[in-house]
Amino acid sequence: MNIFETHAHYDDDAFDEDRDTLLCQMNKEGIDYIVNIGCSMPNSRHIVQMIQQYDFLYGTVGVHPSDIDDLTDTDMEELEQLAQRDKILAIGEIGLDYHYDNVIKELQQKWFIAQLEVAKRRDLPVVIHSRDAAKDTLDIMKEYHNGATPGIIHCFSYGVEMAREYLNMGYYIGVGGVVTFKNAKKLKEVVEYTPLDRIVLETDAPYLAPTPFRGKRNCSLYLTHVAEEIATIKSVSVEEVCATTYQNAMTVYRMN
Ligand code: NI
Repeated sequence: MNIFETHAHYDDDAFDEDRDTLLCQMNKEGIDYIVNIGCSMPNSRHIVQMIQQYDFLYGTVGVHPSDIDDLTDTDMEELEQLAQRDKILAIGEIGLDYHYDNVIKELQQKWFIAQLEVAKRRDLPVVIHSRDAAKDTLDIMKEYHNGATPGIIHCFSYGVEMAREYLNMGYYIGVGGVVTFKNAKKLKEVVEYTPLDRIVLETDAPYLAPTPFRGKRNCSLYLTHVAEEIATIKSVSVEEVCATTYQNAMTVYRMN
């Protein structure tokens, strides 16, 4: 069974001890492609280098809403340059995260929009992070990104109504370890509702490991557990889940 991992952070410190061994092992065991996702300016710079070391590793560049405090217009110019480098597939992860009380919403919105504009100028897909910010994210996407090259709503955490909005606009839904959690009723409903040809598999490694590894360091090998859960929910074979989500990832990242 071959799998396309659409969202991981292998540049994270959690992999410092065994990064190379682990990445090569995963590729041998059927994780055909891995997309390493950017979340800050420094790590985006690092990713364009790191992905040159492995055939199966691709990347995105972008600044996560929790990392936008010191951004400047010069950074946006550099981001646009980085976006044109070899094997960079998308702008992300970008978006809004209102989870913590002390966030400056206006600032998050400003840099979210600025990065959507970079994606549009370069005609690249986007990887969207949105937490506790459902309405503002959708409003911005509708105003600034409707009709543009779509992308992935990563780690989807909203309900069926929101999923419908994004599916109608052409986006794909990223599903990871959370779907295996017993209390993930809302996400299971979204997976049931979403056509299989609009779902992609993702880990967000090192975070959000699926059951039975919950709380441990996540890695792309565990995606079989996510695929199995999706197969159960949708009453299809796990082979079909892997094959269809693989093709979806190729399509959304435009690797066909
Ligand atoms: Ni992530």
